[in-house]
Amino acid sequence: MQYQWYPGHMTKAKRQMQEDLKLIDVIIELVDARIPHSSKNPDIDTMATGKARVILLNKADLADREKTARWKAYYEAEGYFVVTVNSKSSAGVKEVEDAVKKACQEKIERDRKRGIQNRPVRAMIVGIPNVGKSTFINAFAKKAITKTGNKPGVTKGKQWIRLNKSVELLDTPGILWPKFEDQSVGLRIALIGSINDEILVTTELGFELCNFLTEQYPGALSAKYGVEEDEDGNVMLERVARARACLKKGGELDIEKAAGFVLDDFRNGKIGCFTLEMPE
Ligand code: G4P
Repeated sequence: MQYQWYPGHMTKAKRQMQEDLKLIDVIIELVDARIPHSSKNPDIDTMATGKARVILLNKADLADREKTARWKAYYEAEGYFVVTVNSKSSAGVKEVEDAVKKACQEKIERDRKRGIQNRPVRAMIVGIPNVGKSTFINAFAKKAITKTGNKPGVTKGKQWIRLNKSVELLDTPGILWPKFEDQSVGLRIALIGSINDEILVTTELGFELCNFLTEQYPGALSAKYGVEEDEDGNVMLERVARARACLKKGGELDIEKAAGFVLDDFRNGKIGCFTLEMPE
């Protein structure tokens, strides 16, 4: 299966983001904690030269906690400020403000030396579709006292959310496109449900997922579906189909339906909390 995804509107989104980047001091980049590498577009690094950087490992509630800690340490060693968050429940969201301030410490200091005081740092959220940008902005903005509204001249047409005296957030996120460096990146993005399902083959994804889980998290599928584990994804899908009575009209097993169940359960964290890739 070939995974490809580069909708035309991404070009426009990139141009818009380059404009917005001129207005801000710090980039808050959301990645999916289940696939921190595959959900991160490396092009942002060249677009973001000179900006302070914060990475949020979002959807941490769905990821393997121990592996999330390793990813956090990995990105910190690369010089990022990293926060683990669950934007849906707001867990960890409070810590983001602190990370933003730390990331901008140098700039705040520079301003102070020039006699500029209390100029808020300006932040922008970026990330690939479905990574949780809107959810995070909503969670973050809940604490916001006011939306600052348009500021003619400086921020024409832009809405800023003022979190406090020291941080303002651009309320429209920058959309990055996933970068398909190799097919495994595409596969992982498909597995977490960030590519339109209609262009994908459910059965094949289900097969790949079963293979991954039996290898990396043995026992997870058998615990969820009450079936014996087998390292062959096809056999697993057949067993799930039987266990869940996924049958076609003539009584034949409906493997596609079973694959759909497994994928949905995985994406919603109902099989467990898993991370699909590691830094190494
Ligand atoms: P985007 O702006 O980056 O495109 O993403 P968006 O916020 O729309 O979030 C995409 C989906 O991810 C939403 O689910 C949202 O609820 C979910 N989500 C965001 N952050 C988290 C998180 O930290 N943990 C979990 N478990 N889910 C998260 P949806 O099914 O599209 O909508 P809904 O049914 O949840 O409203």
